[in-house]
Amino acid sequence: PTWDDFEGRGVWRYNAALPFEVGVSLPEGATPLHTVPRLESDIGVETLRIKHEGMNPTGSFKDRGMTVGVRVAKELGVGRLACASTGNTSAALAAYGARGGMETLVLLPSGKVAAGKIAQAALHDARILEVDGNFDSCLDIVQDLAARGEVYLLNSLNPFRLEGQKTIGLEILEEFHEDYGTYPDRIVLPVGNAGNTSALYKAFRELVQSGALDAEDVPKLTGVQAEGAAPMVEAIENGWDETRRWDEVETIATAIRIGNPVNAPKALPGIRETGGTAVAVSDDEITEAQRDLAAEGVGVEPASAASVAGLRKLRENGTIDEDEQVVCLTTGHLLKDPDAAFAAGNEPESVPNDTDAVLEHLAE
Ligand code: F0G
Repeated sequence: PTWDDFEGRGVWRYNAALPFEVGVSLPEGATPLHTVPRLESDIGVETLRIKHEGMNPTGSFKDRGMTVGVRVAKELGVGRLACASTGNTSAALAAYGARGGMETLVLLPSGKVAAGKIAQAALHDARILEVDGNFDSCLDIVQDLAARGEVYLLNSLNPFRLEGQKTIGLEILEEFHEDYGTYPDRIVLPVGNAGNTSALYKAFRELVQSGALDAEDVPKLTGVQAEGAAPMVEAIENGWDETRRWDEVETIATAIRIGNPVNAPKALPGIRETGGTAVAVSDDEITEAQRDLAAEGVGVEPASAASVAGLRKLRENGTIDEDEQVVCLTTGHLLKDPDAAFAAGNEPESVPNDTDAVLEHLAE
């Protein structure tokens, strides 16, 4: 296969907004914008749609960034690609690195990465280093390795990653407009390193600058974090202090278990200037939202459910009005974190190998 197999599909449909016409592709993008009628009326907003980025090739939005980032790496002829990761970036890097025929190295916080994500990195042949520290320490180390010329960095500090992730915003606006003739008032998304928030803001700025979108039609970017890892929420409330870093972070949503969001300087203006906000939710609220989405047939990992948990909270406290049209971003697939799904869902029941006994069990 050649790179241009997927020209004009998914992410690459928007190549006018990207640095190349084609990428190292699987292909990625063109994810569903689900309706969720019961959840919409339960939360109480005029429109709720779910942009399910878990439907990308490796099961998260990271693929949109990697298709561009790995293409750049190919272009540069670098030998070894690397990232620090809470899991999804490593899965995407391993897959896209493999597709591009390059060596990959991933640094993961030991014991804090969901099983599905490590399985992907392993099978796609990444070299996996489990660091005795959190994600932020992994990112410090991989930045050092990059500075010493040992690896090409493919975390969201790499601006080409964010170029690809802009297409989430472009797809949402295009599809929403086709369905309603308007643009969503608000996009609610989980925030970890704040790369996606920065990417969406850049996409909207470019649309406004090119005259394709009126400034007043830019959706309010609304970030959601877990209570145990909420430096961006703190920054929105108290101002950004770049020396302040959360050393202790904990949440069931391991994907966003991040204390020092490196893209904060780019993402905070996006939240403020679009009129959005940031909110923290508890692990219980995240699990509840994961069940709510599952009840509509939409299977997501905990970090993704944070967006819906945040929307519910902001609706309940009156920050969001009932007449708003909202898109929640769900960033990763349910199968990424099977343990969280087992913990949140039904227990399997053991039954004898006999129909009557099964019926008896069901009647109990
Ligand atoms: N949701 C999921 C499922 C993620 O994996 C991440 C980030 C985020 C949300 C937050 O996105 O960093 O752009 O604000 N995961 C990274 C990783 C850190 O290593 O996979 P962000």
